[in-house]
Amino acid sequence: MCGIMGYIGSGNAQDILLKGLETLSYRGYDSAGIAIQQEGALHVVKTRGQIDDLRKKCAASQLSGTLGIGHTRWATHGEANDLNAHPHTDGRGRIAIVHNGIIENHLQLRNMLTERGYTFVSDTDTECAAHLLHFLYDGDLLRSLLLTARYLTGSYAIAAVCADDPSALYCIRSGSPLVLGTCSGEAFLSSDIPALLPYTRDVTVPEDGETAVLRRTGIQIYNAKGRPRKSTSFHVSWDVQSAEKGDYPHYMLKEIHQQPQVLASPPVTSHKTLNSPQQALLLGCGTAYHACLLGAYYIERLSGIPAHPEIASEYASRIAFPYKNCACIAVSQSGETADTLSAAHTAVNRGANLIALTNTLGSSLSRMASAALVTPAGPELAVASTKAYTSQALALLHLARSWGAQLGKEEDPLFEEHLQHLPAWANEALKTEKLLKAYIDPRADKPLFFFIGRGADAVTAKEAALKFKEITYIPSEAYPAGELKHGAIALIHPGMPVIAVCTQPQWVHKTLINLSECRARGAECVCFCLPHMEKEAREAADFVFTLPDMPPLLAPIISIIPLQLLAYYAACKRGLNVDKPRNLAKSVTVE
Ligand code: M6R
Repeated sequence: MCGIMGYIGSGNAQDILLKGLETLSYRGYDSAGIAIQQEGALHVVKTRGQIDDLRKKCAASQLSGTLGIGHTRWATHGEANDLNAHPHTDGRGRIAIVHNGIIENHLQLRNMLTERGYTFVSDTDTECAAHLLHFLYDGDLLRSLLLTARYLTGSYAIAAVCADDPSALYCIRSGSPLVLGTCSGEAFLSSDIPALLPYTRDVTVPEDGETAVLRRTGIQIYNAKGRPRKSTSFHVSWDVQSAEKGDYPHYMLKEIHQQPQVLASPPVTSHKTLNSPQQALLLGCGTAYHACLLGAYYIERLSGIPAHPEIASEYASRIAFPYKNCACIAVSQSGETADTLSAAHTAVNRGANLIALTNTLGSSLSRMASAALVTPAGPELAVASTKAYTSQALALLHLARSWGAQLGKEEDPLFEEHLQHLPAWANEALKTEKLLKAYIDPRADKPLFFFIGRGADAVTAKEAALKFKEITYIPSEAYPAGELKHGAIALIHPGMPVIAVCTQPQWVHKTLINLSECRARGAECVCFCLPHMEKEAREAADFVFTLPDMPPLLAPIISIIPLQLLAYYAACKRGLNVDKPRNLAKSVTVE
């Protein structure tokens, strides 16, 4: 979703902002713009389209100012066009702002401001904040920002510059991501850490309701009452290269290939011991929800604690859940997903103890939790989540295991050794890449794919179908294998690919019977299975892909890897934008 970037220093603000916006473009956007403070005036350049379109427009204006703000917009209110692109200015062009989030009461504010003579030129919710800021401006932009915030409901990270003030860049946040950083004589703000990495790895995060003033001499944060507070920063362990594609054609392929390395490390936890609860609630969206499904399986299997996975956006309606001694594990790669944040708040209000599992140190979710687990996946920039998923699954397995140990559950004596072997199994799974490409290339125009499995394999099937939908745009269904004949089997038609995941010995026989039922109706059947299941699988499937010889308990962490590759190569074959699929945003910061 929208990305914001701000700069003050001695360098060319336009170049620095464009570079930052390029880095933030993974979030998904359809227009972009910048505002530069130069010689007592604000110069706004914005356009529908890509950063390159903006770059071309900027080249014509040759701006040399050293203070400015920039934005990538993912349209919510009003179509993607030049007028709706940010920055937005007050009517006189003296204040410019960029905004990430949603101003929920924008219609009331628009009416109030229109009555007071303000003219709106865009359809956006953001423009009312620009006019309101001007309406409340008394020569002190910091004070006006704080006042403006009192009238705004919704979520926002706003950065502002003023034509009259060449010495400062202002920002405020509530519920939307914002990170700040400095390095000798320069200060930066951004929606996400990767855009700061070329300049600094020490990052500061303002709390909700806080404002900050960025100057060439440093950053001052003010609390919600406007009082200055000492800021603390944290060190980011990734470097610039980890946020770049390197030799890979796409981030997604790089991130799929990083999984052996990611699976070599356990998550970092902010608290040493997470005491075993009486029950666990797991909240997440999309791929993170699938990690919750696997997590619930691991928690029940390894600790015996009842575990309930919930789609975060649906959670509010689960009112009768018992919350006494309940751990709520909120899972989110970004730690900024609005649905997950909102569900986590609800769970805390209902009495649950919040554990955040994120891939982003300092994210909103990790800061609101009483304990934070950080996955060691490094920046994930492809919209389709891959390495974050496997590292979330592993982190949840570690948590389940530690709760099991606290409750005196016996563990397989080889378990530790098996965990050490995960990276090698991930590498082995990656070696099927050529075979997978050869299988999918001639099938990338099929109109429908089915993925089936039972138990933990049904989770893998769901995640595989989501990857297919997201990046290939091919309708893809995931079904628990046993559920097929209760309705969805009506969709099976000759030549349709049905892909079964079989790694759980207790279910393999039944799943293969279900696969045979599809084959009998003309489907082209594929099976991903463990080596000792291969013979039986060949009887039910037209194609068999053998997974590494690994324990069934760990198989769901590895078996998704070839299916990620399958989706990736299908999307490439279809000539699609793998890293930035249509309509999607990496970080979904609105509910
Ligand atoms: O940042 P989060 O993990 O909270 O994001 C949740 C979902 O939006 C995300 O997993 C989404 O489903 C991915 N695009 C899936 O590949």
